[in-house]
Amino acid sequence: MTRKSAQLDEQLHEYLLEHGARPDPLQRELITDTERLWPDSAEMQISPEQAGLLTLLAKAIHARTAVEVGTFTGYSALAIARGLDKSGKLLCCDISTEYTDVARDFWHRAGMTERIELRIGPALSTLRDLEAEPKIDLSFIDADKTSYIAYWNEIVPRTRSGGFVVVDNVLAGGNVLAAEQDENAHAIHEFNRYVLRDHRVELTMLPISDGITLARRR
Ligand SMILES: C[S@@+](CC[C@H](N)C(=O)[O-])C[C@H]1O[C@@H](n2cnc3c(N)ncnc32)[C@H](O)[C@@H]1O
Repeated sequence: MTRKSAQLDEQLHEYLLEHGARPDPLQRELITDTERLWPDSAEMQISPEQAGLLTLLAKAIHARTAVEVGTFTGYSALAIARGLDKSGKLLCCDISTEYTDVARDFWHRAGMTERIELRIGPALSTLRDLEAEPKIDLSFIDADKTSYIAYWNEIVPRTRSGGFVVVDNVLAGGNVLAAEQDENAHAIHEFNRYVLRDHRVELTMLPISDGITLARRR
């Protein structure tokens, strides 16, 4: 038994999905549609185990107000929306109508249209337009990596005490170890160093998929 996190090969990942994070038929369809429509970009979508974590986390903290930065075809949004309290709302930020048209279709089919508002445009402008009060219960950051610190600095002050900020791709495909060779990895490495010094939150980094940081607002 090792204390280091397991590296999952294809077979072990299948086992994990089968026993702990099985997508339902609609989620499965969203995954396969995304792969069919954008085979080169489909890996941007979060994994089923991340989706399960987002849903459970939203439920655990009784989230009513949530924000997502980077929506793509709507899988992570669906996961968050499903975990919200009944009257909860999720605000989604993305620049692409092409990707998010697919998202809208699946949200509709999942009966989540009432819970999700999508704003098309640069996420930083959308976030800056939000009221300053710390009302957000849960956020998920998963868009352009070079803006992560800027997104963080808009979201953290608007997050209520006990609320969570979840950040995707914090291992940058392993490239954080040689970050100077890659602009995105460099941005992620700078982000990781930045949030570690941020006393407004307590956090842990988990090796799920490409790495996620879970931060709780003090
Ligand atoms: C990694 S994907 C998001 C994946 C999504 N969370 C999921 O699980 O399916 C990143 C998304 O960020 C969007 N994006 C990139 N730059 C952006 C910006 N400046 N403002 C808003 N969205 C942006 C892209 O259009 C893309 O849909």
